[in-house]
Amino acid sequence: MIVAIDGPAASGKSTTAKMVAKKLEMTYLDTGAMYRAVTLALLRSNTDLDDYDSVCQVVDKLELDIYDKGSKTIVKLDGEDVSEAIRSMPVTENVSAVSAMKYVRQTMVEIQRNIGKKTNCVVEGRDIGTVVFPDAEFKIFMVADVNMRAERRFKDLHEMGESRSFQDVLADLRRRDEKDSTRAYSPLQKADEAIEIDTSMLSIDQQVRKIINLVKKNN
Ligand code: CDP
Repeated sequence: MIVAIDGPAASGKSTTAKMVAKKLEMTYLDTGAMYRAVTLALLRSNTDLDDYDSVCQVVDKLELDIYDKGSKTIVKLDGEDVSEAIRSMPVTENVSAVSAMKYVRQTMVEIQRNIGKKTNCVVEGRDIGTVVFPDAEFKIFMVADVNMRAERRFKDLHEMGESRSFQDVLADLRRRDEKDSTRAYSPLQKADEAIEIDTSMLSIDQQVRKIINLVKKNN
């Protein structure tokens, strides 16, 4: 069984998806973390992001490992734990450009489908209900007011020790939303049959309950 949760940056997908997966005893898959890991690998190898062939070469050599450990998602690049490094600013600033590249997406989607074949998964991303798992049993599209999202992300970053202004965070979300929604290949889009949940006024518990109820009622 696949529960697909899509939506724009900082709409509350990660926390919600993680809790839903735990409650339903399913695997949690954060596909954004995968695109972030590719971006980190490209930045570390000083690859010119406009040089498509070089990008493809790095992607081909990439040893990417992603799994749950307790309540954490561990991401490993060539055996190194990069779970924190993938949340850094340079990665966040470049990930939308990297994730717009066709070869990057094809490679990641193949890995995502293989994981989904093996186990029941709550999969979080931008194109899960539309492209990666179009036959997913449950499709959720999470949205929230952009100012609310920026406030949440600002708070998260602050707790992680990243000092960024609220305006900076807001600008980054707007820029990524725009880039992710308008890219030619697999844009961020609500699947026709997806259930939209506006989390602007909801608590995490309320969001989680809505999805759990939906799954339990229809399963
Ligand atoms: O956590 P946050 O909302 O900041 O974003 P994320 O889920 O970590 O995703 C980071 C970036 O990866 C997004 O801005 C997209 O550019 C890309 N992404 C994607 O293209 N397709 C996915 N299925 C998931 C993420």
